[in-house]
Amino acid sequence: MSDKKCVLAYSGGLDTTTIVVWLRERGYEVHAVLIDVGQEEDLPALCEKALQLGAKTAEIRDARPAMCQHVLPWVIGLGATYEGTYHLGTALARPFIAAEQVRLAKQLGGATLVHGATGKGNDQIRFEFAYRSLAPECEVLAPWKVWDIGGRSDMIAYLRKHGIEGDYALTKDFSLDENLWHLSVEGGPLEDPSATVRIEEVLKGVNDRFAGGVNGSHGELTATITFEQGVPVAYNGERLSLLELVATLNHEYRSAPWAWDLVIENRFTGVKSRGLYINPAAKLLHVAIDALARTSLNKPTYDQYVELGKQYGAMLYRGEFFSDQRVMLQAAATAAMQHLSGDVTVHLEPVPYAATINADAAIFSKNVATFEKSDFSHQDAAGFIRLTWMTSIGKPFAEETHGGTLETGGKPASGVRKAKSVPGGRLVPAAV
Ligand code: ARG
Repeated sequence: MSDKKCVLAYSGGLDTTTIVVWLRERGYEVHAVLIDVGQEEDLPALCEKALQLGAKTAEIRDARPAMCQHVLPWVIGLGATYEGTYHLGTALARPFIAAEQVRLAKQLGGATLVHGATGKGNDQIRFEFAYRSLAPECEVLAPWKVWDIGGRSDMIAYLRKHGIEGDYALTKDFSLDENLWHLSVEGGPLEDPSATVRIEEVLKGVNDRFAGGVNGSHGELTATITFEQGVPVAYNGERLSLLELVATLNHEYRSAPWAWDLVIENRFTGVKSRGLYINPAAKLLHVAIDALARTSLNKPTYDQYVELGKQYGAMLYRGEFFSDQRVMLQAAATAAMQHLSGDVTVHLEPVPYAATINADAAIFSKNVATFEKSDFSHQDAAGFIRLTWMTSIGKPFAEETHGGTLETGGKPASGVRKAKSVPGGRLVPAAV
């Protein structure tokens, strides 16, 4: 019977609820592991539900400390995003869920690793990359790739057939995923980018349902974050652990008008999708750390830092947490982040912006920046322009070969459409 043992990454949602029943039907001994990644749900009650559904064991394991130690500092310190708009979230939690599954499978003396991700999304990749990196000897089972259940409505029908009723009001339409960093909503009316989404309605439904929910307030209008080497350590002067700090910001600002992003993204699988991400802590901290980096890093370092944030975000998005590239990028990020200490006060409305920045290592000279008289030498700039022009441009501009003239009515080069002059003297191509 031991070859039929399996460890399921169980969330208590519609998919993994269906999967417990489906696995039991196929004779598996199901060990459900519910990983606490900061989702604010009644986890013991969900474990109880797994047992009622037929799981042999169901247990909670806490991955929050590991997430706060091994990934979140760099996500925050780099202001990492995917494609510039998605502040990540789901991608951060999956490797830690997989790691706990593997740990349990090894304790059981080997077991099949089961996840509830579909064949369309990124999560299957994140789970299965992690399984391969950590336990290549274990078999992997992804029910979505083998069963004949077609979608969310089919799952509900399947469960009803097995006498299992539930509250599917929200999960019927939406695929939700919550952890300490964000809450994501995909599916239903969000799927079609040409359709207007009633964001307020979706937010209300989601926020009502989650225990961590909303107190209706938008929080204070300013927030001061203290950073030490790129990592936030205090909020409004109060020192907090990273977990407390992020949870506090997410609670306080979850219903703020700027707390969410509606994002169209290119999944690693090639599928385009649209999702609503509720991530106030991520947005606020990103604004703050970027301001600190702009103040503290020299230009070449800042440019590299921005690139690192993109690469680190994309690498996590693709599920490459257990990899050499993650370790390498973090080492480079740590080197940049050592300069990022100080206080940033963010004003939050109408949109978050860094109002004051007190950086310990500011490369900022009032004497240089001022429009007033100072001992800055304006003459130096003349030489700077001559030498820079010489290396970056290097020859007079030939209007004839560039399709136009700066004056209206000039004769364009042959074969080139006449340019239209616009106020300010910029050249724009004439309309076709
Ligand atoms: N599109 C996001 C990502 O790939 C969110 C995925 C949410 N997953 C879910 N099972 N609802 O990271």
